[in-house]
Amino acid sequence: MTERLRLGRALLLPTLVAFLLLFVLATGARAAWRAAGDVKSVERRADGVVLTLTSGARVSVAFENMETVRVRLAPRGQFERDISYAVAQVQRDETKATITETREEIQVSSMNGATVRIRRRPFLVTVIDGDGRTVVEDDPARPPSFDTETGAFECSKKRVEWETYYGLGEKAGATISRDTQQFVMWNTDTYAYPRGLDPIYQSIGFYVALRKDKDVGRAYGLFLDNTSRTHFDMGKTDPARVTFGAASGELNYYVFTGGRERAPRNVLRDYTELTGRTPLPPLWALGNQQSRWAYSPESRVREVARGFRESKIPADVIYLDIEYMDGYRVFTWDKTRFPEPTKLIADLRAEGFRTVVIIDPGVKVDPNYYVYQQGRSGGYFVKAADGQELHATVWPGVCAFPDFTDAKAREWFGSLYKKHTDEGVAGFWNDMNEPGVFLSAETPKPDIYHHPMKTFPLSAVHAGDGQADTHARYHNVFGMQMARATFEGLKRLRPDARPFVLTRAGYAGVQRYSAVWTGDNVASWDHLRLSIPMLLNMGVSGVPLVGADVGGFSGMTTPELYTRWLQAAALTPMLRSHSEWGSNPHEPYSFPKEFTDINRASVELRYRLLPYLYTLFHEHTETGAPVMRPLWFEYPDDDRVYLVEDQYLVGRDLLVAPVVTEAATKRKVYFPKGDNWVDWWTGQVYEGGKEVEVDAPLDRLPLFARAGAVIPTQPVIQHTGEMTSAPLSLVAVRGADGASSFYEDAGDGYDFQRGAFRTTTATQQGVSLKLARAGVYSGARKIGALEFLPGQLPREVRSAKDVVLLPSAHKGADGHVFVLLPPSEDVEEFSLVP
Ligand code: GLC
Repeated sequence: MTERLRLGRALLLPTLVAFLLLFVLATGARAAWRAAGDVKSVERRADGVVLTLTSGARVSVAFENMETVRVRLAPRGQFERDISYAVAQVQRDETKATITETREEIQVSSMNGATVRIRRRPFLVTVIDGDGRTVVEDDPARPPSFDTETGAFECSKKRVEWETYYGLGEKAGATISRDTQQFVMWNTDTYAYPRGLDPIYQSIGFYVALRKDKDVGRAYGLFLDNTSRTHFDMGKTDPARVTFGAASGELNYYVFTGGRERAPRNVLRDYTELTGRTPLPPLWALGNQQSRWAYSPESRVREVARGFRESKIPADVIYLDIEYMDGYRVFTWDKTRFPEPTKLIADLRAEGFRTVVIIDPGVKVDPNYYVYQQGRSGGYFVKAADGQELHATVWPGVCAFPDFTDAKAREWFGSLYKKHTDEGVAGFWNDMNEPGVFLSAETPKPDIYHHPMKTFPLSAVHAGDGQADTHARYHNVFGMQMARATFEGLKRLRPDARPFVLTRAGYAGVQRYSAVWTGDNVASWDHLRLSIPMLLNMGVSGVPLVGADVGGFSGMTTPELYTRWLQAAALTPMLRSHSEWGSNPHEPYSFPKEFTDINRASVELRYRLLPYLYTLFHEHTETGAPVMRPLWFEYPDDDRVYLVEDQYLVGRDLLVAPVVTEAATKRKVYFPKGDNWVDWWTGQVYEGGKEVEVDAPLDRLPLFARAGAVIPTQPVIQHTGEMTSAPLSLVAVRGADGASSFYEDAGDGYDFQRGAFRTTTATQQGVSLKLARAGVYSGARKIGALEFLPGQLPREVRSAKDVVLLPSAHKGADGHVFVLLPPSEDVEEFSLVP
């Protein structure tokens, strides 16, 4: 017998046994799956119905609002306490439902809104919009079913051909649309994740579906609210079906019909009404942010601050990564490298910089360390299944971890920030909160990204805010609840300052507490390309304040890559350069002069447009619309934009088409149908519905303004502290009628909630430009000039009093022409005579 054969025989038996075992397990597992069954009885409620099914499961179908349906299915017939980490806890009015029953069906309708048709045999749900169109329906071939042993469940919806899907939070998916892909939600620390790796850091089980029906794009949204491991198959296994499910818990989902228009913006409005919106961030957080692992010691931090001011590249924020701490103990300083933190922070502040520091969840197990002592005596740490404090290794070595699903632990952790707020730290960065922990040296590493021991054991115990359960259930909310502890702590400590929190991990609703960045991306052209659909999909998952590490976190960037990345990111909601230990410099001024000059121009463009960006965050608080928008969000009827992932809209009025390919100096731009677009730099007009190749030399970000829009700008400043003294300009983009508004307030604090804000609506109609102001804000800025894109300067500009204003026109930033307005008065109407 050859060696090979002998080995083969020796392996045969165990292999057979293993297969047999797998088969028994698999069939056993399948045997425990059963369908939810038929409707046995119907209980009527004010807002819907509660059904008992033949399987013993109970289902509630109710209206959340006129256009939003909630379905809850408790496989064991017992609904859980109705608490959710995703749903914002605000008072909501009950929506009245009308219920009609036939032998075959139960119909539940909201007045003037959506209808749910429930088939009795078997139980199947169809949601219908106010105009009688089917929004989404259960797939009769796969009725909702569950595993009676493990508590896993699945629900399948019919998939209509050509339906695209967006959202599902932070995914490194292959394309902007999620169709024909499948995803898992399980927050994972995935250093240098490649495109397509799934899951990564965040779990947001909400998607927007979009489909063109004749000439109209119709959307709806679906949100599965379940914090355990969930999965979404968007037509990958079978293109005729979308399936979602979870490892345990209730089947609890919402369908957002988007009203009769079925408009994406209605879907986002209703989803964010449910899960909350990002409160207005402090203005400084919209400035340019600079980070690195790590600026240390303090002299290096000062050098970076100087680097910005000397190179005249605007910046507002400097980050301190883990090296500022004493042995990575959170809420401490390394006194050798940072002997006088309060002074350092004050000096930076005097130069117009805010300081943000990183705070990780791992608390070093060290009996002489105050944070560990307090956490231990308070009983705030997560416990292992045996009731002992759970320990795992992260940066500081062996750590214990606050149980952020425990209100008392959140309050305690939130109060620890006092040390840093007293020192003047402005904002906080919560990292490693998937939670991510290190594999021990002995652990074999078959897959560095997804390894069960890279987080807590599933059996660890959490308080669950009154619903104690295992880590398997609460894993996905750990990071979000940490960000919540930080946010709520800051609000208590500094009630007059808007908190700025940045988190890596999150769950649906994370936007109420925090900004999100896309974790450890890579310094590569592909990651630059990937960052755009990732950020766009975060925006339509309800999270507007997002950014990717500019230049790429992992690996070495090149001057060209950094410069193109900064350009591409200049108008993304959050702008932060960050890179790993050992990488080459990623400061915009640290490259050869020709690149530094372009980098300066990119950041200057952002600062010129800050009044506009800020307005978009205000708009988000009112409507839930993202700041950075996929083209389909505004142009759902134009299906040529459904798969566009290398262009984005900033609000409604600016279209950005960055260069994301090495050495490219031209690129194709698709202009969405229905509007004309004017080149920001040349004034060239492009008609919507066409694709055009445009010039894009290294120093040019292809940027276009919507004809008819009026966009507020300001002169270049070095940081947001200089903003109050800078007069505004209004770019009247000529070529169509239209109206835009912009919003102003103090940029921090909460006076705006007591009326201290101003909204200005600018309307262009023919030759007239009218401004209507609402609100009283004493700090509102003067409008110093009307600004025109090249070639758009009217022959004559008059104020209503017939004062001819044109003579004072001058050429300024970006090649635009400025018509200065009289400093004394607030002019309200102009004629722009072509
Ligand atoms: C993680 C973070 C990264 C940070 C590093 C050190 O990898 O994602 O941004 O720089 O930890 O704290």
